[in-house]
Amino acid sequence: MDIRINVNGIEPFVEKQTEKNLIEKAVSANKSLYDRTGRGNDFLGWVSLPLLVSESDISEIESVSENLRDISDIVIVTGIGGSYLGAKAVVESLSSSFDAYMDTGNPKIIFAGQHLDEDYMSELLDFIDSKRVSCIVVSKSGTTTEPAVAFRIIKQHIEQKYGREEARERIVAVTDSSKGALRQMSEQEGYRTFVIPDDVGGRFSVLTPVGLLPISVAGIDIRILLKGATDMEKASHVSVPASENICIQYAVARNILYGSGKKIEILASYNPRLHSLTEWWKQLFGESEGKEGKGIFPAGADFTSDLHSMGQYIQEGERILFETVVSISRPHEELSVPDDAENLDQLNFLSGKRISEVNRMAELGTMLAHIDGGVPNIRIEIPELNAYIIGQLIYFFEKSCGISGYMLGVNPFDQPGVEAYKKNMFALLGKAGYESEGEKLKARLQM
Ligand code: PA5
Repeated sequence: MDIRINVNGIEPFVEKQTEKNLIEKAVSANKSLYDRTGRGNDFLGWVSLPLLVSESDISEIESVSENLRDISDIVIVTGIGGSYLGAKAVVESLSSSFDAYMDTGNPKIIFAGQHLDEDYMSELLDFIDSKRVSCIVVSKSGTTTEPAVAFRIIKQHIEQKYGREEARERIVAVTDSSKGALRQMSEQEGYRTFVIPDDVGGRFSVLTPVGLLPISVAGIDIRILLKGATDMEKASHVSVPASENICIQYAVARNILYGSGKKIEILASYNPRLHSLTEWWKQLFGESEGKEGKGIFPAGADFTSDLHSMGQYIQEGERILFETVVSISRPHEELSVPDDAENLDQLNFLSGKRISEVNRMAELGTMLAHIDGGVPNIRIEIPELNAYIIGQLIYFFEKSCGISGYMLGVNPFDQPGVEAYKKNMFALLGKAGYESEGEKLKARLQM
């Protein structure tokens, strides 16, 4: 495997017997994922998913993607949570940081429906007014308010621009096979649809059409991505011993630290392309583990930028943190610090050094400083950013999350807590059936 895990930076925090017990627990958790004996076992479709995506599934995604690419300058993906974070993570990690400003030959992917900001939607409509636009609408339940509101607006825009007939070519829905308003609407309107399997929850769905379609539209080879995920599935299979299974090792390391009072995990990287991968990871672990009064709080940091904002807290604040760094060995490009005869900025000690070497020393220096300050360090080491390795990384985190959630003793595949805000929002907005709750909330808010 191209991904390695380095846990030397947690050694001072490890008690050998605890580690041994937790390895046993992790092995049994991995077994439960395969024999489907744990909690939430009707949502384990993702475990073998990369192996099961068929040639015809891939070809269909590629053919729809090809058409969207031909007819669009902009493809808007409407979705929230697991219905957009995975696609965004993969597209951004495999694209230049400046793709949005360049003519790359690929349509631009824009995300909407991940919040309810009126200005964002108005600005989006202004921006797409003179562009060729299509939309991939993603919602497993088919009833989530944020993407439904955004889709209603974008659907109207597309219909007014192209007429209802052509809108059918420009709108593709990814949703449940039979339930929900989006499924019903798609059938009535005659949209092309892709199905999110019943046994795959939103945050584990990036390797279904939820992620694969937008990723393919962005010009990324989804076959290579799936190959990476498939190989990681094999490398973390229940038959692979703990000493060689990096998903078990990561799950064990984080649970050792959690047990020793480290309640917050910061996922950090030194490459801005991984910003959205961190956002995806936060949802994956936060929504899977944070329940029943338990769970490591997943936070994210972009280094070295955040060393100048969060660095102080990490070094000297409450000692409840540990850090997991996604460390990339090789950049794609070569660039060195130029020499300057005048040396007014006093930087000539760096002359001729690759920027990546400066970044590396920042990374290693930070690791030691943080360990010395009481922040244990786990390193996920990857050689470079490409579709094969990102496929591995996605599956690595999914499998580690399933194992870790079972070790914690929760159901990692539900999200009952997400309903609380929705209920209040519906009550405050006067949705039928929520009338008396609405009165109570308005009294509390003195509205
Ligand atoms: O992981 C999950 O299940 C959630 O984050 C969902 O993806 C999110 O709430 C969006 O749901 P839906 O796809 O039903 O609109």
